[in-house]
Amino acid sequence: MPAWPRTALSTRLPSSIETSPQIAAPEAARLKLAIVIPTFNEAKNVPVLLGRLLAVFGELDTWEVIFVDDDSADGTWRVIQSLSIQYPNVRCLRRIGRRGLSSACTEGMLSSSARYFAIMDADLQHDETKLTDMLRALDEQEFDLAVGTRYMPGGSIGDWQADRLQVSRVATWMSQRLLGLRIKDPMSGFFMLRREVFEEAVYKLSGIGFKLLVDLLASSRGDLKIKEIPFHFGVRLEGQSKLDSRVIWDYLMLLADKRLGRLMPVQLLSFGLIGSLGVLVHMLVLAIFMAVYEQQFVTGQILAVSISMVFNFFLNNALTYSDKKLRGGAMFLGLLKFMAACSIGAAANVGVASWIYGDIGSWLFSGLAGILVGLIWNYATTSILVWPAAGKPATGR
Ligand code: GDD
Ligand code: MN
Repeated sequence: MPAWPRTALSTRLPSSIETSPQIAAPEAARLKLAIVIPTFNEAKNVPVLLGRLLAVFGELDTWEVIFVDDDSADGTWRVIQSLSIQYPNVRCLRRIGRRGLSSACTEGMLSSSARYFAIMDADLQHDETKLTDMLRALDEQEFDLAVGTRYMPGGSIGDWQADRLQVSRVATWMSQRLLGLRIKDPMSGFFMLRREVFEEAVYKLSGIGFKLLVDLLASSRGDLKIKEIPFHFGVRLEGQSKLDSRVIWDYLMLLADKRLGRLMPVQLLSFGLIGSLGVLVHMLVLAIFMAVYEQQFVTGQILAVSISMVFNFFLNNALTYSDKKLRGGAMFLGLLKFMAACSIGAAANVGVASWIYGDIGSWLFSGLAGILVGLIWNYATTSILVWPAAGKPATGR
């Protein structure tokens, strides 16, 4: 691996900072580029990628690499930490009890004062030689954002199966239709932007899931100067993709948050949708029970309530709160708290519905009002007791 150029950060700090903190550092001392790389179980890929980045940017003396690792079980953060001892401009931002590609990248950018930020994957699927084209587009041609694009001549999607391509196409189409995005590959996870663009969007970011570029574009004004740069999406050599059905749910939630986020928290929407599935599970269990034990409605109802609560807990843990998913003992305790909170919610539901029914008499209206009160109670209490600090993701405001 080539040596990092000898420009340790300390030699660039103006001595005036020590004596008079109100004197701003000269703009020329600002690092030019921060490459932010989210990692989750990428221990084998990280040293290879750093070697490649050094080969590309060895001559540029004001850049840094920030790996944001969600406490990977394979010890990726240890590998990064040992690299950062050797290379002071490599940093490891390690997050505990957190998950999420977008929020990882956002927090990585927030930790840097560089002029431009590049976002790229750690698994060598993004062509690092394109970073110089991106930097030129921003630095010399005054673009605000340069996007690595697979869907244009000179670009390709590597070894993807037809079904993944189809999912990507539909997702792209949805972002174009629902959010009005115009670029060819808004799903790309490989791009570079000016810090002003980031800083302007940062308070509006949803921070949900995998698609930071969609989030950024939908949180920015529509007049960004964007350069699209084709690249060949490589084949992952080590480790596994983290893209699964949860990522699809997160994407739908991101779109919903961008469209409806000002009206209600998107977690409430997710919670409500899962709750309506829970009602179906409830009725199914009850129907099966009643078919077997005709006389025992109350037992059947208790069983159906319990099973649908367990069902709702696990779906919410996996989807609504995927960034704060509970595991092991904490998950079991969370289930007990969830069932306790929702039992009170059920009582409130029946209480309110009966009260309104007694007053007004419409069973439809009373039933719906009871459901609404139960839903809000369950959402509010479980978001505090079961998934604490789980209102809006850390990047929201
Ligand atoms: N910190 C952190 N936390 N990093 C994560 C997490 C997470 O929860 N999930 C994934 N990563 C890291 C991976 O370690 C990898 O470096 C990068 O994010 C991309 O994850 P992959 O699992 O390799 O995703 P992919 O190849 O299926 O999808 C990528 O390409 C798509 C097409 O361009 C991503 O970049 C997508 O955003 C992109 O749409
Ligand atoms: Mn990948």
